[in-house]
Amino acid sequence: MYDKEEQGMFDVFETKESGVRSYCRKYPTLFDRAVNAELFDTEGKRYIDFLASAGVICYGHNNPTIKAAVMEYLAEDRIVSGLDMFTTAKEEFIKTFNKLILEPRGLDYRIMCCGPTGTNANEAALKIARLNKKRTNILAFSGAFHGMTLGALSATTDQASREGGYVPLNNVTFAPYDGTFDSLAYLEWLLTDDHSGLDKPAAIILETVQAEGGINVASVEWLQGVRRLCDEHDIIMIVDEVQTGYGRTGTYFSFERAGIVPDIVTIAKSIGGFGAPMALVFMKPELDIFKPAQHNGTFRGFQPGFVGGTAAVKFYCESNLGEEVKRKGAIVDEFIRTEIMPLDDRLTYRGIGLLWGIDFNAIDPALVKAAIHAAFDNGLICEAAGRHDGVFKFMPPLTIEEDVLREGLQIAKLAVKEALGQ
Ligand SMILES: Cc1ncc(COP(=O)(O)O)c(C=O)c1O
Repeated sequence: MYDKEEQGMFDVFETKESGVRSYCRKYPTLFDRAVNAELFDTEGKRYIDFLASAGVICYGHNNPTIKAAVMEYLAEDRIVSGLDMFTTAKEEFIKTFNKLILEPRGLDYRIMCCGPTGTNANEAALKIARLNKKRTNILAFSGAFHGMTLGALSATTDQASREGGYVPLNNVTFAPYDGTFDSLAYLEWLLTDDHSGLDKPAAIILETVQAEGGINVASVEWLQGVRRLCDEHDIIMIVDEVQTGYGRTGTYFSFERAGIVPDIVTIAKSIGGFGAPMALVFMKPELDIFKPAQHNGTFRGFQPGFVGGTAAVKFYCESNLGEEVKRKGAIVDEFIRTEIMPLDDRLTYRGIGLLWGIDFNAIDPALVKAAIHAAFDNGLICEAAGRHDGVFKFMPPLTIEEDVLREGLQIAKLAVKEALGQ
């Protein structure tokens, strides 16, 4: 497995790159090319991609339509970096996003361009919420992942990540996520009992599917219940779509399946279409109270991100990608249920759209690492998520060809068998 490492092939990384690097430890090869759902290393070995750059590559590596739009833009010497100046690329993006995504869903949001990461979008969202309500506290959920900068990290639960900053992470109260105890009843009590001890939060921030948290899919009833509680208690509802947006769950925004409208939505990873760093905050117009430059970031105007983003939303609509995701999601669901679950009755699985996880925690979470390594050796890139990293996670590009998807699933099955010692 680690032959190449032992032979010193990664010396430059081992000796010069910080030890904080992590994915490369699971996939120890030198990647070079990538096409749709396949990666190739320098020796020409092919890997099926069930990681999609942690959700950045929803529309496939080097999606030809999106790439062509970006290449044409660059070839014409158009502006690349524009801060938040008015540019044609941004104008086209905002118009297209409004027309194709927001208006058809009846969503009236102001769009805020912020620094190009999910954590930055969440920082901005938390600030706006606090500023609006003039309250400090935020309510977040067990299993949440909102990013690594201190504000977003405060609303993130993974212990190792929290310990990394070595400062107190304050001003957030956690409640159990859907599926843990009776979450809604607990929230109701927390917000209504004047002796619950809760400082009234400015916002409740949540993921409709906790991806890093182990593919925990919130029920429609729970999402609607949280929306109701936010309305009843004058609390802003922030939905973090950083990993679940762009069609990942079968609708453009994952909250659509619950028929709710959040007050603030954050988005990043795939919004730039082809992997360009870009992040946005959508907010109801009345919440848009930042003074000019009160939250900014030099890289909030990376124009190829707007160009790729415009091409990506057109691609999403023209290729009817949401329906395709539902169809492929059903293939994954059936495969896991009929081919992988029978391998051991202590395994469980969860998922929606093209975001799935097989939970090994009832056996031994360490087996997921073994499964990831076995998958990698056989040409499949998968990730771990959840408590104790005990969930074997599948998140391919939404554009993955059906035969490649099925091939990847077969490799995943072999990897599970190998991890189980079968
Ligand atoms: C739900 C969610 N929010 C926020 C983030 C942070 O995004 P970034 O790594 O771009 O800061 C992630 C990253 O995986 C995420 O899954």
